Amino acid sequence: MSKKTAAITAVGSYVPDYILTNEILETLVDTNDEWITTRTGIKERRILKEEGLGTSYLAIKAAEQLLSKQNLDPKEIDLVIVATATPDMMVAATAAYVATEIGAVNAFAYDLHAACSSFLYGMSTASSYIESGRYKKVLLIGADKMSSIIDYTDRTTCIIFGDGAGAVLFEPNMEGLGLQDEYLRSDGQGRNFLKMDAGGSLLPASEETVKNRQHYIYQDGKSVFKFAVTNMADAAAKIMERNDLSHTDVNWLVPHQANKRIIDATSNRMGVDDSKVMMNIQKYGNTTSATLPLLLSDYENQLKKGDNLVFAAFGGGFTWGSIYLKWAYNS
Ligand code: UT7
Repeated sequence: MSKKTAAITAVGSYVPDYILTNEILETLVDTNDEWITTRTGIKERRILKEEGLGTSYLAIKAAEQLLSKQNLDPKEIDLVIVATATPDMMVAATAAYVATEIGAVNAFAYDLHAACSSFLYGMSTASSYIESGRYKKVLLIGADKMSSIIDYTDRTTCIIFGDGAGAVLFEPNMEGLGLQDEYLRSDGQGRNFLKMDAGGSLLPASEETVKNRQHYIYQDGKSVFKFAVTNMADAAAKIMERNDLSHTDVNWLVPHQANKRIIDATSNRMGVDDSKVMMNIQKYGNTTSATLPLLLSDYENQLKKGDNLVFAAFGGGFTWGSIYLKWAYNS
């Protein structure tokens, strides 16, 4: 009997309508289109402007698109995982609200937080539930409203991040398709380089934390860049090596979209041609947990059954890794 694997069988996505261009950012902070484009590859990002809407709104929209594309009855879903760094609230799982709103009334639901690696780690979690045979339909959503924790007076962070969401469905596969291997790592020494200081148990919200602007994301960009370049490339190279994948075997690199230069370093290390590198950083920026599923959604029409995909991500914590997955369907 062949082994049960966990395959992605459907994809959905959502980005808000409002477009924050480099030109608009020039009016907010001391920056310019040329600097942002050459240093990051970003031209514009989407922002959820409407008051009273959080990350759940983005997640629900992405999930609903998947359900309608797939003509899937939400009652069949066993588990909903929302990978996010910006939950609606600190307490009360965003995923529980999302599951109820989309009609997944037979599912249990929880959030998974590993900064920019949330979705990558979520792929491992979702696949394990399927491979174990315990559940048959796991909906994994990557969603972030990064604009809710960005300081639009800080030019080192506000130029990078945007809002968005993507959703994938994991189901059992008996043809050997789906997740093949993973290499996931973390290093807590990294938490001082990329973080939001206040609002958690270590430094609860106070008048002082608000005054000190500690409820916004802070990053030591240069250090994060160095760690990201090395670790993302290393992880992807390791996955190729231990699965005997040459650069010609890899059909697609699916890299976290934080900085085009980090993506280029990873693809160069793998020896993978630019034409095989999924990229949408220019129009969405870094959407944290949403980058990987947004790429799958944008490139879905070009993917073929049996294609070898190598995912790679790096994020706060630090957290990082790479996943090798065989695509399971033709669009
Ligand atoms: O998702 C995972 C988390 N994040 C990342 O992976 C981000 C990793 N880091 C990066 O992508 C890059 O470090 C940044 C894009 C954040 C910054 O690029 P950089 O090439 O590392 O620039 P830098 O920090 O070394 O700054 C170079 C210069 C500085 O000026 P001086 O000191 O050379 O005069 C900065 O003050 O560029 C200046 N600068 C800017 N200039 C115009 C910094 N931010 C800006 C800006 N516009 N927005």
